[in-house]
Amino acid sequence: MSNIRIAFFDAKDYDRDSFIKANNKNEYDITYFETRLSEDTVRLADGYDAVCVFVNDDINKEVIDKLVEMNVKLIALRCAGYNNVDISYAYEKIHVVRVPAYSPYAVAEHAMALLLTSVRRIHKAYIRTKDFNFSLNGLTGFDLHGKTVGVVGTGKIGRIFIDICRGFGMNIIAYDKFPAEGSGIDYVSLDELWKRSDIISFHCPLTDENHHMVNADSIDKMKKGVVLINTSRGALIDAEALVEGIKQRKIGAACLDVYEEESNVFFHDYSNHIVNDDILARLISMPNVIVTSHQAFLTQEALANIADTTLDNVKSFFKEGFSGNEICYKCDRLDSCNQEHKKKCF
Ligand code: NAI
Repeated sequence: MSNIRIAFFDAKDYDRDSFIKANNKNEYDITYFETRLSEDTVRLADGYDAVCVFVNDDINKEVIDKLVEMNVKLIALRCAGYNNVDISYAYEKIHVVRVPAYSPYAVAEHAMALLLTSVRRIHKAYIRTKDFNFSLNGLTGFDLHGKTVGVVGTGKIGRIFIDICRGFGMNIIAYDKFPAEGSGIDYVSLDELWKRSDIISFHCPLTDENHHMVNADSIDKMKKGVVLINTSRGALIDAEALVEGIKQRKIGAACLDVYEEESNVFFHDYSNHIVNDDILARLISMPNVIVTSHQAFLTQEALANIADTTLDNVKSFFKEGFSGNEICYKCDRLDSCNQEHKKKCF
């Protein structure tokens, strides 16, 4: 059998390095495209067996139709979230696999890094001491010990974040659409979480249902001075409402690794350009907002796991006929679904 051909979109240097290492036996012919996969670029996938995509590639209906037309058999996401793929449309047309976990520690630790940076004003102190300014004025923070953190989403990342917070002596409350029974986690309603939390951290997937779960109404219910941390997906937060909440001094600080319009800017160097996104520019201009550009996953361990799992997914799909990491489209026929565990979704 000839090598499986993969069209790799939105390729960055660190992706190439980790995938070249993972493909050390040259089992796959991988072509790295710097461009993202979209309706405009999908033709590049012609002649390939699979496309490998990341969080900001746009796999909408048109892209799916073109991939199917070109006989591409697999969409291999090299990430966990899949809100950028029209999964229900892909059902029965093209298979989609993902990397469900590569380093939940990377993301949870980044969330805590952002929180500590924010509450201890490290981002300000770093710039000051670089300029030999050793003044402490304006750098007063607060102890995390004894504060209440509300965790939205208690899956792999959320639970590690909870463990880290426990280490800091924080009180933890959580909301999850599917609470983990017997986990010992103190689950509360979303309204109660908004009301009681000093800090709120998001670790749930983005769905139609929770799009803009942080909006003017929910911000209104939150404690004055609340710190929001979002390492999950940007559109969980209505960015305009966030700006307003900060301007009204209701929100004390925001730590954002994701942003709802990030696909136009994140992962690129715009340091010599005028950024057109006024909301993002406003957020970045605020002293109590820290933005990192979807960096939470970026550790050596995570990159190695992403490359290994992605290539394993591709291999299982083409050589064994299915991959255990296929995204199961939860169709209306769940009751009658006789799909065996770890077999194809259709
Ligand atoms: P997971 O699947 O292990 O956990 C997600 C949890 O969210 C589950 O417990 C699920 O029941 C819960 N959930 C589902 N719908 C919900 C809703 N509407 N409201 C509240 N909870 C809900 O996922 P994992 O690995 O913990 O990842 C969480 C999210 O982190 C991913 O969906 C992804 O968006 C984001 N992520 C961000 C990265 C980054 O670099 N910034 C990297 C990896 C993941």
